[in-house]
Amino acid sequence: MAQTRKDELLDHDADGIQEYDNSLPRWWLYMFYFTIVLSVGYMIYYHLTGTDRSMIAEYNAQLQEAALLKKANAGNSAPKALPTSPLTDAASLAKGQEVFESVNSLCSTCHRNDLGGQVGPNLTDEYWIHGCDLPTIMNNITTGFPEKGMLPYGSTNKLTDEQLLQVASYILSKKGSNPPDPKPIEAEREVKCGDEDDEHHAGEDDDEGKEGH
Ligand code: HEC
Repeated sequence: MAQTRKDELLDHDADGIQEYDNSLPRWWLYMFYFTIVLSVGYMIYYHLTGTDRSMIAEYNAQLQEAALLKKANAGNSAPKALPTSPLTDAASLAKGQEVFESVNSLCSTCHRNDLGGQVGPNLTDEYWIHGCDLPTIMNNITTGFPEKGMLPYGSTNKLTDEQLLQVASYILSKKGSNPPDPKPIEAEREVKCGDEDDEHHAGEDDDEGKEGH
């Protein structure tokens, strides 16, 4: 009788909770033994033989990696100083035009070959929605206006930094070109942008290297 005691309540009582003293199920017991064996193997493998990296070594390696990454990114994360003066040489502008009209960028399908505007706004007048200086235009091309249908272009996408500068310079070179039958000025563009022909250049002499390319 003593060996086959089953489902007999023990005496002790913890806040009204009592328990049986049944033996553990075999499968549970074997799993338990298995974990003990495994832990010994684990300790030998990771801590004694040094064949593989321990958790601490792995953690330290990851920390080191992160530190390296952080260091490598330190230069990139600082906002890149975008050029402030557009390229004006014919070769660069021709490259910019190439980008603007290429099948990869498709700028011209929305802004028209003469930049007079179609789906996208006219890019040749003094009225801009998002700003008219070179760095702003470059930024706008990079980020695009996905909600309006213009994809983000730029160094992470289809245009290299150089192409970006070229195409932005090309756009600026077309300023005042008065293409025939331009897209009407949208309500968002009613305010003239910058007035840069008059005061802009005088005011912006901080780091604008006119001789720089
Ligand atoms: C699918 C159509 C589409 C394509 C392709 C496209 N754009 Fe646009 N673009 C637009 C629209 C629409 C806007 C206006 C966004 C708004 O209203 O906020 C815009 C705005 C702009 C602006 C800002 C204009 C302003 O007034 O501030 C620039 C600059 C520009 N596009 C340049 C480009 C360049 C360069 C390319 C090619 C690399 C390009 N776009 C390709 C549709 C397009």
